[in-house]
This record gives sequence, structure tokens and C-alpha cells, in this order.
Amino acid sequence: MSIAIVYFSATGTTKSLAEAIAKGAGPEAVLLPITGKQIVEGRFTDEALLAQLTAADAILFGTPTFMGGPAGQFKTFADATGGIWYHQSWAGKIAGGFTTSGSFSGDKQGTLQYLVTLSQQHGMIWVGQNSPNGLYSGKPLDVALNRLGSYTGVMGQAAPGQPLTAGDLATGEAYGARIAALAKKLK
Ligand SMILES: Cc1cc2nc3c(=O)[nH]c(=O)nc-3n(C[C@H](O)[C@H](O)[C@H](O)COP(=O)(O)O)c2cc1C
Repeated sequence: MSIAIVYFSATGTTKSLAEAIAKGAGPEAVLLPITGKQIVEGRFTDEALLAQLTAADAILFGTPTFMGGPAGQFKTFADATGGIWYHQSWAGKIAGGFTTSGSFSGDKQGTLQYLVTLSQQHGMIWVGQNSPNGLYSGKPLDVALNRLGSYTGVMGQAAPGQPLTAGDLATGEAYGARIAALAKKLK
């Protein structure tokens, strides 16, 4: 069983959430960063990365929220999956997603909705985030799970230059564990 976590991160915040998710998912998790170098004349060209995703049992998509949606680098990757979509090669795989932003809202929901749509075009099975809302946990918000109240997928928020809260990272870790358990059951 393998869980591929494909993500773009410009300044490391989304990367830290991807790593937390990988930690929760366990040794089957593989981190696959999208970088500008894979994009040539506007097109994502890393066929080996796409093949790794096709071989995985579950795929998690991660991107920062840029201007209310996925980063351009992530969208370029997503557009390169058109051939995979045509053959429905990812159909039936587990899917999930995560995003980070600078503002508390920052319109992150739009990014997660895009990731859901991407997964549904591929015939995948989207798995939401099920850690309970941290507002009711009695814990300080920086350590509370699901502090941002997101169930569609995992959200993280950090002011510029700041790390994600311990709670946001723990929410990612719990999500990784959930994905791994479901992928195991489905296999
Ligand atoms: C071009 C650009 C657009 C951004 N747009 C938003 C936005 O719409 N909402 C928001 O809250 N933060 C926005 N941010 C802040 C990033 O989402 C935030 O810093 C994010 O955690 C960066 O992730 P990364 O470190 O993985 O690149 C933007 C940052 C950049 C550089």
C-alpha cells in the first residue's frame, strides 16, 4: 500500500503540513513536491512523478492558497493529469487534500473545493477531515485540533514568517492516519 502526498510549497508552510500528514500516514507515505523546475514553457513535464501517483493507492493534494485558489504551480500539475483523466487511471483511489493561508479565512475553502473537483473528475473517493472542532475542546487554540473548523480537508494558517500552530500540524497528522487506515481497509 502506498500513500502519495503531492504538493507545492513556495515558502515551506504547506510543506510542513505535508510532512505532518506523512508522519500520521506512516511508512507507506511518500512526499512528492511540485517545483518550478518541472514546469517548462508553462507545462508540467515530470512524467515520472505522474507515474508514481498512478502506482499509489491514495493521493493527497496540497497547495497554498494563492489569490483565493490553488497556486499556479499546482494548477499546472493538475492540468497535466488530463491524459490520466481520459483513461480514468486514478478512478477508485482514495483522495484528500490540504491547504495553507496567511489570513484566518484567506478564502481557503475555494482551494479545497478545487481539490475536491479535481479528485471527482478523476473518479476518486474523497475523504474529508474528521478531527472535532477545537473551539469546544477546552484547549488553547494553538494546540487544538481543527482550530479552523474545516471538514472538507485540512487547513493550516500562519502569519507571514510564522510556523503553523502545533494544533494545525496535529490535525494534519490525524488526517494522515485516517487516510492510511481507510486505504488499508479498501485494499
Ligand atoms: C501570490 C500569493 C497569493 C496569496 N494569496 C493568499 C490568499 O488569497 N489568502 C491568504 O490568506 N493568503 C494568501 N497568501 C499567503 C499564503 O497563502 C501563505 O503564506 C501560505 O501559507 C504560503 O504557503 P507556502 O509557504 O507553502 O508557500 C498568498 C501568498 C502569495 C505569495
